[in-house]
Amino acid sequence: MLGEASTWSLPGAGAAAAAVAAVALVWLSAWTLQWAWWTPRRLERALRAQGLRGTSYRLFIGDVAAAARLNKEAASRPLPLGSHDICPRVIPFFCNVLKEHGKLSFAWTGPKPMVIVTDPDLARQVLSNKSGNFAKKMTENISKYVVGGVVTYEGEKWAKHRRILNPAFHQEKIKRTLPILSTCCTEMITRWENAMSSEGLSELDIRDEFQNLTGDVISRTAFGSSYQEGWRIFQLQEEQAKRVLQAFQRIFIPGYWYLPIENNRKIREIDQEIRTILRGIIVKRDESIRNGETSPDDLLGLFVESNMRESNEREDLGMSSETTSVLLTWTLILLSMHPEWQQQAREEVLHHFGITTPDYYDGLSHLKTVTMILHEVLRLYPPVVFLQRMLRKETELGGIKYPEGADFILPVLSIHHDPSIWGQDASEFNPERFANGVSKATKFQSAFFPFGWGARICIGQSFAMLEAKMALATILQSFSFELSPSYAHAPHTVLTLQPQQGAQIKLKKLR
Ligand code: HEM
Repeated sequence: MLGEASTWSLPGAGAAAAAVAAVALVWLSAWTLQWAWWTPRRLERALRAQGLRGTSYRLFIGDVAAAARLNKEAASRPLPLGSHDICPRVIPFFCNVLKEHGKLSFAWTGPKPMVIVTDPDLARQVLSNKSGNFAKKMTENISKYVVGGVVTYEGEKWAKHRRILNPAFHQEKIKRTLPILSTCCTEMITRWENAMSSEGLSELDIRDEFQNLTGDVISRTAFGSSYQEGWRIFQLQEEQAKRVLQAFQRIFIPGYWYLPIENNRKIREIDQEIRTILRGIIVKRDESIRNGETSPDDLLGLFVESNMRESNEREDLGMSSETTSVLLTWTLILLSMHPEWQQQAREEVLHHFGITTPDYYDGLSHLKTVTMILHEVLRLYPPVVFLQRMLRKETELGGIKYPEGADFILPVLSIHHDPSIWGQDASEFNPERFANGVSKATKFQSAFFPFGWGARICIGQSFAMLEAKMALATILQSFSFELSPSYAHAPHTVLTLQPQQGAQIKLKKLR
C-alpha cells in the first residue's frame, strides 16, 4: 500500500525516470560509438599515415572471426612427419597478414589494432621497455584467473615481487633442487619400465607423462610436504585454463566478464578454492618453519608465499610447469624424427654419467649436445609462441610514432623461423647451429628469445633448462624411442604450443 501511495503521489516520477533512461541511453550509444568506431578509425588513420599497412577494421569484431576461421581450417590438417615449417599451421592468421601487408603490419583484435613486430631488434626494444610505456597486455580481468602473479603485475608491485623471488632462482638455490628433480625423474622412469611388455617395449603419450613430471617437480619444490595439495591446485588450474580459454572467445564484448553465466561463476569459484588451499599450505608451512622442519627460504616456496602474504594474490605455477613439459614433449618428438641426434645425445650422456643417476650440476652443465638440441627445439617449437604488450602512451619505435592504445604482438615463432635471419635451413632441425652458443647461432643476436627478454625475462629459465636436461639424460640412458604410427604431426597453440593429437611415442628398453 505504502509503495502504491508513494508512486501515485509523485506524478513527475515517471517522467523523471524516463529522462534518466534517455540520458543513459544517449551516453551508452556515444560511448559505444567512440569505443567501436571513432577510436579504431583514429588509430587506423594514425598508423596508415606513417606508411604501415594492415587489414581494414571491421565493426566490433575486427579480425577475430577471420582468424578463428583460419585457425579452424589449419587445425583440420596435420603436417607431413618431419616438416618443421609450422608457422602456417600454428599462426595462420599472422602468417597471412605478414605475407599480404609486409613484415611490420597490423591487424585487429576486436576494436584494438595490434602491430605485428617481426624485426628482432625492434622486438627487443619493445621488451626492453626503456620508455616504460610498453605494459604487459592482459585481456581484461579474466586473465588473472589463469596466468596470475608476477607474470601479470606492473610497476612497483611487479618490482617488489620480482625482488622477493629473485633469490629463490639463484644458481646455488637451484642446485639444491637436484635431489628432488632426480627423485621425480627416477619415479617416472620406474613407471615407464613397469608399463613395458616382456620384450621391453611400450607405447605412451609422453605429453601426459611430462605434464605429470613437471607438475610433480613444481609441487614438491614449491609446496614441500604439502605437495598433495599442490597437485590439487594443478588440477584446478588445468580446469581453469580451459574455462578461461572458452571465455576468451567472447571477451572483446564489453562487460562480458560480468555476465552471471555458468562459466564466469565457475571461474570465480575455482579461484576461491585455489586460494583456500594455498592459505592452508602457508599455515602448515609457518608451523613447520617454527618447528625447524623447513627453511624459511626454501626455493620455490617463496614463489607461492610472496604473493599470498604480500597481496593475497596467487602465483601461477601451472603455466611454469606447462612450458617445461611442452619443451620436453617436443624434444622427444624431434629426437624420434631425427634418430642420429638421439644417438649422439645418448653417447654424450653415457660418456659423462655412464648409467649412474645424472644428478650433479657440473656434469649436467657439460652436456653440450643435449643443450644444443634443447636450444634448437626451443627455436623451432617455442612453448610461448608470441608475446604481447600494450602501449600506454604515444611512443616512437623504429622511426614510427605509435599512438596510445595500440597493442603489440611479437611473434617469437615467426622470428625463430625467418630464413632472412637463420638462413635457408631456418625450418630444418639442425642443432649444430648452436654449436658455438646462442650468441653465435645467427648474426642477429636478438633473434632467439624463447624466454622473453628485458626486465621481464623468464625468471625460471635456468631451472627449466636444468629440469629438461636431467629428464632427457635419464630417459636417454634407459630407453631408445621412435614415433608411434598413431602420431599425427599437428602442432597448435592453446596458451602454449602443443601437439594437438597427442605425442604417442614407442619406447624400447636399452638394458
Ligand atoms: C621451457 C620452459 C619455459 C619457457 C619457454 C618460459 C617462457 C617464458 C616467457 C617467454 C616469459 C616472458 C613473458 C613476457 O615477457 O610476456 C616468461 C616469464 C616468466 N616465467 Fe617462464 N618459461 C619457462 C619456464 C618457467 C619456469 C619453470 C618458471 C618457474 C618455476 C617460470 C616462471 C616465470 C615467471 C615468474 C615469469 C614472469 C617474469 C616477470 O614478469 O618478471 N617459467 N617465461
